[in-house]
Amino acid sequence: MARLTHKHILLGVTGGIAAYKSAELIRRLRDAGAEVQVVMTEAAQSFITPLTLQALSGNPVHVDLLDPTAEAAMGHIELARWADLFLVAPASADAIARLAQGIANDLLTTCWLAAAGKKAVAPAMNQQMWADPATQANLDTLRQRGVAVFGPGAGVQACGDVGAGRLLEAVELAGLCADQFQSGQLTGVEVVLTAGPTREALDPVRYLSNHSSGKMGFALAEACREAGARVTLIAGPVHLPTPERVQRVDITSACDLLAASETAVTQAVARVGSARTVFIATAAVADYRPARVAGQKIKKGDKDDTLELTLIRNPDIVASIAARADRPLVMGFAAETHAVEDYARDKLARKRLDLIACNDVSRSDIGFQSDDNAMVVFWPDAALPAGVGRAELAKASKTQIARQLVSLLAARLPASESAGHAPAPGDPSQTRHADEQL
Ligand code: PMT
Repeated sequence: MARLTHKHILLGVTGGIAAYKSAELIRRLRDAGAEVQVVMTEAAQSFITPLTLQALSGNPVHVDLLDPTAEAAMGHIELARWADLFLVAPASADAIARLAQGIANDLLTTCWLAAAGKKAVAPAMNQQMWADPATQANLDTLRQRGVAVFGPGAGVQACGDVGAGRLLEAVELAGLCADQFQSGQLTGVEVVLTAGPTREALDPVRYLSNHSSGKMGFALAEACREAGARVTLIAGPVHLPTPERVQRVDITSACDLLAASETAVTQAVARVGSARTVFIATAAVADYRPARVAGQKIKKGDKDDTLELTLIRNPDIVASIAARADRPLVMGFAAETHAVEDYARDKLARKRLDLIACNDVSRSDIGFQSDDNAMVVFWPDAALPAGVGRAELAKASKTQIARQLVSLLAARLPASESAGHAPAPGDPSQTRHADEQL
């Protein structure tokens, strides 16, 4: 959940038995890369101590509006301004009522009024209190002001009642926090994305492959999801966890990858149309495979100093997708060790791509295996003398590079769902400024 990297989350904890869950929530938010500050009401401190939340958040917990020492360290206005997202969890019926009414009679409610960033509440209360029209009216008021309401869940409650009013689990709350930072650039779009290496079997124990770790493709899958797309990630053999809410299909060889890609694109186009479907080919596909796969392990003879293999060409997956009558927007990658930009521009034209992102895989600090990358992206642009637009993405984490690639992609999609088919490469109506420096 890299979406929370460096995000500032101000967590407001109010009084209720579910306050203990704030400890796990802080851990989840920090695991996702967020910085967390905590403000507690007086009642919350009867359920969990500030010391516990201080230890977990790594920051002093804020409890008192009128504490000059705390104010000297980080005043409440500064705290409110610091927050990218102010989440009150658990939010008691009383806290929700005070927030809805604009009452500022303690530190938490004062910070709430002073906060200009995103706001959310995660209600937790008895099911009857939840169902009460006063509570529902207060929540409607908050919703109308743009406050997100996370949950509540339903089930057996601490008081023994059964019904709605349970605080959502920490993992769900952390996911919903991350969703608040979705750019929405790919809302309504289906992305089919390939990642990792392929393996081309020689015999039951050996194969031809390459150094791709899948990191770039997985980061892109997450960035597309973060931007609101529905994502199908077709992955070669890699050791990476599946990004949340991404559909994963595992494959081994280039032929498997072609079949899985054709199926996923057909399904995506059927759901949203070709104009709202994107195919991204990050996978490092083996260009050739052994002409014959031995049924048993190939044995070396005493006198065999050499072994000759005959390789046959694999299908070109990205070119096949780009050649479909119902072609989606297609983005290829190019991994080169020299003349990187020249080869990339050639592949852009030859494979009839809408964009190509190239990287120099001769460098050890970027490209294969690394957590970082640096890329140059090209796209056809008939309006430019060179016929191509160009954007340079300076060295950054693959997560950050992926987000920039999403922006470039989104800019090349037709403006609305009512738009027609994906533009032909070179369509000037789809152009973006040349030499964009992201
Ligand atoms: O996985 P990482 O360790 O994070 O490394 C990331 C990466 C270096 C693998 C990635 O950034 C990258 O460059 N991926 C493309 C690798 C590649 O196969 O490049 P290529 O220049 O050989 O192929 C050009 C394009 O054609 C690619 O989009 C490739 O997916 C596609 N292709 C290639 C051959 C083939 N038979 N079918 C294809 O679809």
